[in-house]
Amino acid sequence: MNSKELFEESKNYLPGGVDSPVRAFEPYPFFVKKGEGSKIYDVEDNQYIDHCLAYGPLILGHSNPEVVKNVSNQIENGTTYGAPTENEIKLAKMVIERVPAAEMIRFVNSGTEATMSAIRLARGFTGKNKIIKFEGSYHGAHDYVLVKSGSGAATLPDSLGIPEDTTKNTLSCPFNDIEALTNLVNNEKDEIATIIVEPVMGNIGCVEPEEGYLKFLREITEENNIVLIFDEVITGFRLSRGGAQTYYSLTPDLVTMGKIIGGGFPMGALAGKKELMEMIAPSGSVYQAGTFNGNPISVQGGISTLNQLNQKFYQDLNKKGSYLRGRISEIVDELDLNIRPVGLASMFQIYFNSEKVTNYEIAKKSDTKRFSIYFHELLKNGVFIPPSQFECNFISSAHSNENLDNVANAIRESLKIAWDK
Ligand SMILES: Cc1ncc(COP(=O)(O)O)c(C=O)c1O
Repeated sequence: MNSKELFEESKNYLPGGVDSPVRAFEPYPFFVKKGEGSKIYDVEDNQYIDHCLAYGPLILGHSNPEVVKNVSNQIENGTTYGAPTENEIKLAKMVIERVPAAEMIRFVNSGTEATMSAIRLARGFTGKNKIIKFEGSYHGAHDYVLVKSGSGAATLPDSLGIPEDTTKNTLSCPFNDIEALTNLVNNEKDEIATIIVEPVMGNIGCVEPEEGYLKFLREITEENNIVLIFDEVITGFRLSRGGAQTYYSLTPDLVTMGKIIGGGFPMGALAGKKELMEMIAPSGSVYQAGTFNGNPISVQGGISTLNQLNQKFYQDLNKKGSYLRGRISEIVDELDLNIRPVGLASMFQIYFNSEKVTNYEIAKKSDTKRFSIYFHELLKNGVFIPPSQFECNFISSAHSNENLDNVANAIRESLKIAWDK
């Protein structure tokens, strides 16, 4: 069956034909046969240079030989035990050595579980209930963080099935706005347990913190006895060996991780200061548990991946990022388009927006119709990026310079068509 037929069939069995909403795009998504290095292949044997990279985990590309070898060996020795392993200590030490905020760690199964547990821990630690997130930030699919943006006021759930009672303690605020957050914290004096932030907002495209903003977050949380959580599910091990906190030289109280930490296998983690982490069961009274926590396959995937991520690795990878972003900027200038190439390290995106994007309100003004044309043209030209303007594109170490030149050419042709040039 081809992708179109598979999608028709799939819709009978999986809601919307997919297992996660962003994967469904018009008229139908391609169905994958395999991934290899920088490329992903569909069931019709079309190949695409992959800059979606499973939405971030595959920093080494698909099927990295070292990861495949070590994980295969692990599978031969069992797939899950329900008892601790030495490799969990090994991976814990690797993360703690790299990530400044991490003094202890709990391995869970996804980024969603990580943020859910981190918020519970912050509430347990402070004895306070309210949380602040930023408009447009995504921290997974659990009830407390799935709320509409709304300045200051308690916010409404973003999905059916979430009682308003559940989100009444979730407040939101525009990113990069010092005054708005200061007012919110002052209004809710002594009630805020935590501020959770994506240090680079990767779920509305790619929005960097303005100079001094993360430092301001560190200061206002310290002054008000608020736990600062960096949600590094995207930025962890992506921006640098120690994630955004090393990149920006700022240490939060807690950090949530996912994606790269499992090396392409399902895993998340929360980590932070000992005095907080020791409140987690069984050493403390904040409950957290999971049948697959610290799963040996995912742990081995993580060890085999992090082992390869040394300083030189990031120098080389980020050079690829600079190169591609440079090419994109040249193309945008050459075509005389008033749009915004953005990104850092090995992340990139183009905002189809004439304004500089610093928060969700501005991001929302982007021309998503043209973006969709651009996305489909890229596919025709053999390049796969996430289908939404509000996702980020990634580069892996498996992308060759030749790949990046081909991608730049595909971007030029796709922009021309999207903008009728
Ligand atoms: C910043 C951030 N936090 C949390 C999550 C949720 O992670 P998961 O999809 O593994 O549950 C995501 C997923 O994209 C994310 O980007």
